[in-house]
Amino acid sequence: MCGITGYAGGGNAAEQVFEGLKRLEYRGYDSAGMAIIKPSGEVSVVKKQGKVDVLKPYVADMRGAIGMGHTRWATHGKPSDINAHPHFAGGIYVVHNGIIENYAELRQQLQSAGETFISETDSEVIAHLIKLNYGGNLLVALRTTVKMLKGSYALMVIREGEPQIAVAKRRSSLILGYGDGENFCASDRPALAGKCKRVSILEDGDFALITAQKIEIFDENLNPVNRPKIENTLTSEKLDLHGCPHYMLKELREVPQTVKNTYSSFAGIGEKLKEVFKGTKRVIFLGCGTAYHAGLIGKKYFEAFARVPAEAENAGEFRYKNPVITKGTVVFAVTQSGETADTIEAVILAKSLGAKVIAVTNVIHSAISRHADIVVPVSAGAEICVAATKSYAGQIAALYLCALTFAGKDASSKEYKQLDALCPVLENTLKEINVYTLAHMCACSNGVYFLGRGFDYAVALEGSLKLKEVSYIAGEGYPAGELKHGTLALIDGNTVSVVLITDEELASKSVSAVEQVLSRGGKVAVITCLPAVAKALKNKAEVISLPGCNKFLSPLVTAIAVQELAYRTAVILGRDPDKPRNLAKSVTVE
Ligand code: AGP
Repeated sequence: MCGITGYAGGGNAAEQVFEGLKRLEYRGYDSAGMAIIKPSGEVSVVKKQGKVDVLKPYVADMRGAIGMGHTRWATHGKPSDINAHPHFAGGIYVVHNGIIENYAELRQQLQSAGETFISETDSEVIAHLIKLNYGGNLLVALRTTVKMLKGSYALMVIREGEPQIAVAKRRSSLILGYGDGENFCASDRPALAGKCKRVSILEDGDFALITAQKIEIFDENLNPVNRPKIENTLTSEKLDLHGCPHYMLKELREVPQTVKNTYSSFAGIGEKLKEVFKGTKRVIFLGCGTAYHAGLIGKKYFEAFARVPAEAENAGEFRYKNPVITKGTVVFAVTQSGETADTIEAVILAKSLGAKVIAVTNVIHSAISRHADIVVPVSAGAEICVAATKSYAGQIAALYLCALTFAGKDASSKEYKQLDALCPVLENTLKEINVYTLAHMCACSNGVYFLGRGFDYAVALEGSLKLKEVSYIAGEGYPAGELKHGTLALIDGNTVSVVLITDEELASKSVSAVEQVLSRGGKVAVITCLPAVAKALKNKAEVISLPGCNKFLSPLVTAIAVQELAYRTAVILGRDPDKPRNLAKSVTVE
């Protein structure tokens, strides 16, 4: 949520910062701004409401070798030019990702001390505090300031006349990049892709000073400290759209590769995972949004393969319910970004109550990893589209393998091999799938309901979320059996019900739900891998036929169908599926 990036070097800082912001735009896109130190030492600033491209006309005129920028997802104060970052006071310029929880009282104190505020943001207090705390050393002023802040921050600060960027981090991610005669800092790795060979990930409480020549890192007492330099494997080529009109489509097409890579990377952790599982009596899956939906599937895997009590819970709810953690509880933290505040806080609580923690994440060195006993990699690669696609598949594959390991099965088992063998099936599904008619039906509807039983219900929830997220069509996902307990009242000729049917044992029950909707005049589409169901319903409903596979792996196949449907519907309606309104990719606030 909010992307920040900084550059110090021989190149044109404005171009570098602009490019970095473009690559971080998935983190927020309601306004953007940059501050560049001119050769004279003065600072030029531009900040505007809108997506990062609003800065483009200013880039050529902003000369300077050091600068920083911000792309915003508003938390305090509506999107506007004034509320966009950088914020400044007395020659101090600040970009901030995070939330300052005590900003109201700080603002009042600062106003009483004569400071004038121009924005409605929480972040502006930081610039005023640094200004007042400055006594000749920017880093010392920054440290004095952050000690006064409650909340989360990744901060970059520049001061007129000083050729450096000072940064501080607490509970919001910040990465440093070591270039050749130039150095970088950013909230996330895509900004640094192809720019530098090595990166360091700052820890909570760290500070750093960045110039063209060097990066110095300090701990919370400003003592020099070393943080590991790790290889920057992300290249700019990996961020290309490769001819796709949107990242959502490109990333959807990368589902088979993600499953393959997640399968391969799991080989390295199986033994350690067994150690963590020792003494486990209960398993809880925590996550938000799509990650929570993957957790629902993980729960079913553990129950089915290992007959161990399993629960899946929304991380934001878990934290505030005074959870019961009994001896032998293992918590799975499922999170693509590894940065989601609700999930991190829930995990910290579970850990403090004695649970072991397994992080299932696409970003190995992310914040969640520091709280985990073991990290299970989701090898999806960078996911730029705000809507999760391939990472959901990677999470499902990782949880499937974890459950098999818990149940004592290894790579020689038929279940393992079935996952490996699924990749060509996923490739074919992507090649053959045709949801155009259904997407048009959805685009013209007043509401779309997703129904299913068992694994199909879990995917129904995800299908509904994805469609709402990228097309803005209202609807919900619910168990097919629940239809007659209330939701049926919503069905009329302007609604579409998408019914997922993949489990032979439950098929007849789900077909009953189809009949119930049809007899109330509702439009129905059926997504099925069962030829008999397709045949029986082909004259009554829009049927999307998928290749057959066992029910445990069916979520990977049906997920492609519902994600493709969401994508096509968004495109028909002229939405930008990569940057849905009001949203951002990494939700680092509670
Ligand atoms: C998915 O399409 C959403 N953008 C959202 O629900 C997301 O899955 C959720 O915010 C959790 O993110 P995480 O996986 O990075 O923790």
